[in-house]
Amino acid sequence: MAPPRSHLLAAAFLVLCACTVAPPPALVAAAANVPITTCRSFCGNITVDYPFGLHAGCGHAGLRDLLFCINGALMLHLPSGSYRVLDIDYAYRGVTLHDPAMSDCRALDRTPAGRGNGFVLETWREPYLSPDPDNVFLLLGCRAASPLFQGFPDRHLPCRNVSGMGCADYLACPAWDDYYAAGRRWPGDGSFGGGDAAGGGGAPPECCAVPWAAIRAVNVSRLECEGYSSAYTLAPVRAAGGAAGWAYGIRVGWALPESNRGFCGACRATGGACGHDMESHADLCLCGDWNSTSNCDSTADAAHSSAAAAAHFPRAVAAARWAVLASGLTSMWWHALRSNLW
Ligand SMILES: *[C@@H]1O[C@H](CO)[C@@H](O)[C@H](O)[C@H]1NC(C)=O
Ligand SMILES: *[C@@H]1O[C@H](CO)[C@@H](O)[C@H](O)[C@H]1NC(C)=O
Ligand SMILES: *[C@@H]1O[C@H](CO)[C@@H](O)[C@H](O)[C@H]1NC(C)=O
Ligand SMILES: *[C@@H]1O[C@H](CO)[C@@H](O)[C@H](O)[C@H]1NC(C)=O
Repeated sequence: MAPPRSHLLAAAFLVLCACTVAPPPALVAAAANVPITTCRSFCGNITVDYPFGLHAGCGHAGLRDLLFCINGALMLHLPSGSYRVLDIDYAYRGVTLHDPAMSDCRALDRTPAGRGNGFVLETWREPYLSPDPDNVFLLLGCRAASPLFQGFPDRHLPCRNVSGMGCADYLACPAWDDYYAAGRRWPGDGSFGGGDAAGGGGAPPECCAVPWAAIRAVNVSRLECEGYSSAYTLAPVRAAGGAAGWAYGIRVGWALPESNRGFCGACRATGGACGHDMESHADLCLCGDWNSTSNCDSTADAAHSSAAAAAHFPRAVAAARWAVLASGLTSMWWHALRSNLW
């Protein structure tokens, strides 16, 4: 049986009144919330959200000064150069980058002085950003004197397959057809020992595949190479069709300190946006007109105390008002239910 119409109407009226006078405390907390757009934004069709940010103070400090939206293209800037961001996968923590000066399976891009940005990070950023373990860097035409081949007295090269991707397959790409046709020596004719693309003799391999962990900086000119390529695999299955089926680009992952998870969760739960202090680079919860070193409900941790006090006084008044109205509403419902059920 439904409660009488009059009771329902009265209850509805009371709710309406309460909302007009003051929103419930939960909603006040939400109203003190920063808009979702404070730190989340779009560049072209790519969402830029924590731990990345396009606005100063947004995102994690380890990823600051990294992404820029230029004419609708999301760009990632590093000491080694600028890369187009093709995708940010928040679930798998992966960023896919494209370097226009990189070789792929269809075309080689190399000059004696070295071509392509490679991939070099600022030292301070290294704990937070790095190419995936399943990303292979293929260094092309490196000189025998290259640091890549030093420190290996037994001529055991660092070159190897990475997640099933290596130079043997890459050298079969159509990109190399013109190169061989131009009368260049067939890769692997020389011998430099070891590696999947080396033969005998003493000439360095035409191609050397390495994982990021083996070199930690792909500086094409410092490594005395003529160019590079990079490919990645997202699935542990071998791509059909060899190197023509690989995904070309640089797949980069990010990592945040364990403590950040709790901090950011609490900040968001209280309506804040996770960010960082632009000077100290410490985590900061952006709460609209004030900032907190913990979350938007803890005034004690206000990074801007006078603004915080002002923001919290009307909130307390509103909460008290709502409590009075809510108790009235509850007793009214109680009466309505009792008179109808019993
Ligand atoms: C809060 O922090 C952000 C990012 O660091 C900054 O832009 C903003 O000015 C700060 N707001 C206040 C009220 O201090
Ligand atoms: C790459 O190496 C060259 C030569 O050693 C150096 O001048 C340049 O600064 C390096 N680039 C980066 C981004 O480290
Ligand atoms: C963005 O749009 C381009 C085509 O304009 C498409 O190829 C790409 O997959 C889109 N990226 C995302 C992340 O939706
Ligand atoms: C690398 O992969 C190629 C092609 O699949 C294979 O022939 C070769 O034996 C592999 N090399 C190493 C060192 O595993």
